[in-house]
Amino acid sequence: MSFYFQDGYLYCEQLKVKDIQAQIPESPFYLYSKQQITKNYSAYSEAIEDINAIIGYAIKANNNLAILKHLQELGSSAVLVSGNELRIALKANFNPERTILNGNGKTIDELMYAIQNQVLINIDSKFDLQHIQRAANEVGKRANVLIRINPDIDPQVHPYVSTGIKNSKFGIQNKELDWFLDFIKSSSLLNLVGVHCHLGSTIEQTQVFYDATVLMSEFVKIIRSQGFELQYLNIGGGLGIDYHKQGEILPTPLDLINSIREVLDNQHISLIIEPGRSIVGNTSILVNRVIGVKTNGNKSFVVVDGSMSELIRPSLYNAYHHIDLIEPCEGELKKFDVVGPVCESADFLAKDCYLTSPSEEMGLAVWDAGAYCHVMSSNYNLRMRPPEYWVDENQLIQIRKKECIEDYLNLFNI
Ligand code: LLP
Repeated sequence: MSFYFQDGYLYCEQLKVKDIQAQIPESPFYLYSKQQITKNYSAYSEAIEDINAIIGYAIKANNNLAILKHLQELGSSAVLVSGNELRIALKANFNPERTILNGNGKTIDELMYAIQNQVLINIDSKFDLQHIQRAANEVGKRANVLIRINPDIDPQVHPYVSTGIKNSKFGIQNKELDWFLDFIKSSSLLNLVGVHCHLGSTIEQTQVFYDATVLMSEFVKIIRSQGFELQYLNIGGGLGIDYHKQGEILPTPLDLINSIREVLDNQHISLIIEPGRSIVGNTSILVNRVIGVKTNGNKSFVVVDGSMSELIRPSLYNAYHHIDLIEPCEGELKKFDVVGPVCESADFLAKDCYLTSPSEEMGLAVWDAGAYCHVMSSNYNLRMRPPEYWVDENQLIQIRKKECIEDYLNLFNI
């Protein structure tokens, strides 16, 4: 691992996080290991070595331009959910013809922009297909589309990150598949190239992916039997990561691919996978400073300078992120809630976590902050989004500046 403890100090690659904290003027800040991003991507690229597949990194998990450029250079494709994600993907040099646009509410402008760039587009509903057709007509180009099937498979994850069950807002109603196929057949502006599904996020069993691939392969057969030449079977993203650090063995990208390899054999189809969290999740920590320690009633609190504004997953999903002091601290372990300065009781980074009582100014790290953390940060309480740094061959480099209040005030024309 690129983050590890030695003599009571947390390290990122060969650098002591405490020394990094002393050099950086802002707090809190996100700290990444570039080497870990490379390792995680390589785990996917090695797993697909002998099959025809596209790894589409889901930009929504982390859209830092330095990270995107790095993944692009490693050979990744990109998965998008908005026109702006397409803009940043182009800036990072991703080949648009190998990127995929998802979404249940794509606007005509976003669709036109995607079609101009020959992006692969997932059809999410009847109105979405009509909008794609309209956008293709406006642009005067054919749209390459995939149908987003709703597999109705329960991925057994938090309801907010479950997307492929019957009552989810995503995907088409499968019983209406013929309506979609007839519509596409009758249009010279639509080119059906594949099928797509996405079950959810933080999935911990390969069986879920296997079941989805079997089901999707049936759809491929049905659709091909109507004369369509499908090239892609897209099974989405969703592989979980080890947030809990309890020694649990989670499936690797190779386990995932091995579990579906047989199903893909002889289908003459390219696989698309859309991982986000499993590529960037464990590549970053949020480094905070302790402001103070207090007790109210029978609860003890460590108050730090990071908050739900910088990292909302615990408040929003009750998600667990492991917490550690970044430096040695003597004393007995005690149960604390780790909270921020935001004026709201939902503002916490951890509940009931065991720490030795830290002194003011000590460093405290929130682990596994690389996916869905900076991207979901906000200006709540008029806090400025934090800067990002990475360690690249043992050099500390800033890869995003901290937002400043002047940028914010410039949004008002008064
Ligand atoms: N493809 C599609 C169509 C998706 O909707 C998603 C994520 C992905 C790929 C990437 O999934 P991943 O491999 O990262 O699990 N904010 C939540 C996560 C929401 C994920 C939504 N979809 C969180 O913080 O856990």
